[in-house]
Amino acid sequence: MLIVSVVLLTQMKKLSPSRVVNIADLRSMAERRVPKSVFDYLDGGAEGEVTLRENCRAFEDITFRPRHAVKVNECDLRTTVLGTEISFPAILAPVGYSRLMHPDGEVAAARAAGEAGTGYILSTISGHRLENVKAATKGPAWYQLYLVGGREAAEAAMERARKAGFSALVITVDTPVAGMRERDFRNGTAELLTGNVFAKIPFLPQVLATPRWLVSFLLDGGVPKLENVILPGQGGMPMTDVGTALRKSVVAWDDIRWIRESWSGPIVVKGILTADDARRAVDAGAAAISVSNHGGRQLDCVPAAIAALPEIVATVNGQIEVLMDGGIRRGADIVKALCLGARAVLCGRAYAYGLAAAGQAGVARALEILREDVDRTMRLLGCSSVRELNESYVRFPSAWKTPG
Ligand SMILES: Cc1cc2nc3c(=O)[nH]c(=O)nc-3n(C[C@H](O)[C@H](O)[C@H](O)COP(=O)(O)O)c2cc1C
Repeated sequence: MLIVSVVLLTQMKKLSPSRVVNIADLRSMAERRVPKSVFDYLDGGAEGEVTLRENCRAFEDITFRPRHAVKVNECDLRTTVLGTEISFPAILAPVGYSRLMHPDGEVAAARAAGEAGTGYILSTISGHRLENVKAATKGPAWYQLYLVGGREAAEAAMERARKAGFSALVITVDTPVAGMRERDFRNGTAELLTGNVFAKIPFLPQVLATPRWLVSFLLDGGVPKLENVILPGQGGMPMTDVGTALRKSVVAWDDIRWIRESWSGPIVVKGILTADDARRAVDAGAAAISVSNHGGRQLDCVPAAIAALPEIVATVNGQIEVLMDGGIRRGADIVKALCLGARAVLCGRAYAYGLAAAGQAGVARALEILREDVDRTMRLLGCSSVRELNESYVRFPSAWKTPG
């Protein structure tokens, strides 16, 4: 009991508002706690990381147009997504391999999201059983589908997700192959995940440099299996096979037809970057899309997600809900995305840094920072409800509205 209290007190001190002021502080903490291979997997992007950088930088091209001398007594941050209320307009994006960042992984992130009154999207690439993840959260939970184990495994996962109470299915369409994440190659991430001891040896010093993480990883049983991709006759798929499996399991628009037969709830298509694909998603019966470039981890040199948003919002013209993700590091970014027509945003790294830094408490701190940022930004803008945000509160490059 005493040990638990001491650990909790130490963690609270580490995450106190004077030490962890913004998401960048959580990023630094994460970098110190986990091995370089895990940090770089989380932090890095594809090839030259042009899109990774641009996702964040492009928010600087948007400037605010505040309304001053406006009294905002209560600032209403609530909105609805797919008919469900969330306490503020940010949902936790699917982040694969979360259990390598912290043993509590997806369960901790889902619990923190629920406690903050918002939603959590569970990746197919997850180490905790989807039933346990759903049970951990009071908030809405969606299941993100990759076809990595083939159609049979996907159908079984959808059935389990439906039974467990996941309320929407997210289909990610921008991963016909895994992006070329150069940092992972240099760090030997694949070698560290495989069972071959000799292949691991050159990369072991970085893992030994973070002994506390190593102990928690070993106590958790080492590299977890994909608990939600059950291969017929074999059980959970090994995490190591994901790259090859992705290549064999491209999602095409046609697949949405059979997926529809297995999933009667709402479908969100994640990874839309052009007006044409937005139209296809509407035609395929999606209830929502996320304008996304996978956090700059797939095709490099595509535009920042925020820059692709206005054209897509105009094309969709209210037929379905438009979400966006990529580059959100501050609440002001969330406000900007809403001004440009997003209903809510998905945050990836912003909370995953918190998870890698301190488990559930770190995710909770990330959400607290973002929420306080949104509240303050709204008051400084002179706007009392996130549902009232619109283009009149910002100035942004006019080229973003026209097809590039
Ligand atoms: C470490 C990591 C793992 C990810 N894994 C998945 C995944 O399994 N499925 C998915 O659809 N997107 C995945 N993404 C993409 C996120 O869902 C989201 O699109 C992206 O993180 C948004 O950019 P941001 O990190 O700048 O917020 C991952 C992102 C990161 C950083």
